[in-house]
Amino acid sequence: MTFDRRRNEFPTLASGIHLLSHSLGPMPRAVRESTLEYCDAWEHHTSEDAWATSWWTLSRRVGDRLARILGGEPGSVQIQPNASIALATVASCFDFQGGRRNKVVTTELDFPSMEYIWDAQRQVGAHVEVVKSPDGITVPLEHIRDAIDEETCLVALAHTSYRSSYRVDAPAIVERAHAKGALVLLDVYQSAGVVPLHAADWKVDFLIGGTIKWLCGGPSSGYLYVRPDLQKDLRPRLTGWVAHDAPFEFAAAPMRYARSVRRFAQGTPSIPALYSAIPGLDIVESVGVTQIAAESQRRTQMMIDFARERRWTVNTPLDVERRGGSVMIGVDDAKAVAEQLAEQRVFVDWRPGAGLRISPHFFNTDEEVDEALRILAGLIE
Ligand SMILES: Cc1ncc(COP(=O)(O)O)c(C=O)c1O
Repeated sequence: MTFDRRRNEFPTLASGIHLLSHSLGPMPRAVRESTLEYCDAWEHHTSEDAWATSWWTLSRRVGDRLARILGGEPGSVQIQPNASIALATVASCFDFQGGRRNKVVTTELDFPSMEYIWDAQRQVGAHVEVVKSPDGITVPLEHIRDAIDEETCLVALAHTSYRSSYRVDAPAIVERAHAKGALVLLDVYQSAGVVPLHAADWKVDFLIGGTIKWLCGGPSSGYLYVRPDLQKDLRPRLTGWVAHDAPFEFAAAPMRYARSVRRFAQGTPSIPALYSAIPGLDIVESVGVTQIAAESQRRTQMMIDFARERRWTVNTPLDVERRGGSVMIGVDDAKAVAEQLAEQRVFVDWRPGAGLRISPHFFNTDEEVDEALRILAGLIE
């Protein structure tokens, strides 16, 4: 297969075998240049207004780029400081004390921020049901569907779990939730850039995530997708002046929300983070998420086959339709094994209960993946 891995665009890859895209993607070479553009704009701001010439519209422009990757329309994504704030902004749209619908359905495999934020909503009247994972790897669809009832206002769960790479059946969950009158939020942090997403087709209500991982964008650029026809009905209590319809009027309260997705903003956007996110988006878009996903499925299968032949513990779904881009291998003392791998320039990480997290992305060669597995076999066996 001819597949342009764009390896020259990632200086990080010279340091060893980078299998950490679930955590921090490698830095695109062009980020150095785009960071200098940011410095130039700031340095010359007094003679040429940086806000007016580019910074004010940057969130919108990067948001629209992300919308394409999420399968949404232009104007559906607001940049956020991080995914946790994106989630808290959505949570602040609900009045859990105001009526019969106060139930939020989540799962045990979601990222801890989710759990902390929903637990905190109990103080303001939310009834939070955490659907258990019987095996620490999956959450059966029927259990999620059974938890959604007429009291549910929101189903909020990871599209792909950071712990096991389990990928939920998004359309089935949205269908059930909407039939019961509930909204759906998917945390696509571990999906965007490696798994095709279809926000508009799925009719999902919210997506949250960020650019640091599979989008090779660096820290601190989160995002929030809100279904366009839902936006005007929501009034987040977690807000700020940038979310105002006319922010430069600096008007007194009450808040008059922007008539666009900007109503989900808070304060001054993190401009350097946006500059660092663009080169990764350029690369991912030009390689193409469909091609990246096909390559990811082939390689995660290759890794799983290698592991199962050796009777290793695979803590990731075997069904390709139910997994994301990572493979978790259960080993004794995963922390020590990850450190030993790093000594041999194979970079992975580990999580309690999950074991090693290993993530090939489009820039990794088959030879690298194979070599990493053979080094791991030498350590385990
Ligand atoms: C699935 C998932 N959600 C959320 C987060 C955290 O996002 P943030 O630090 O932007 O709040 C992570 C980070 O690892 C993640 O994997």
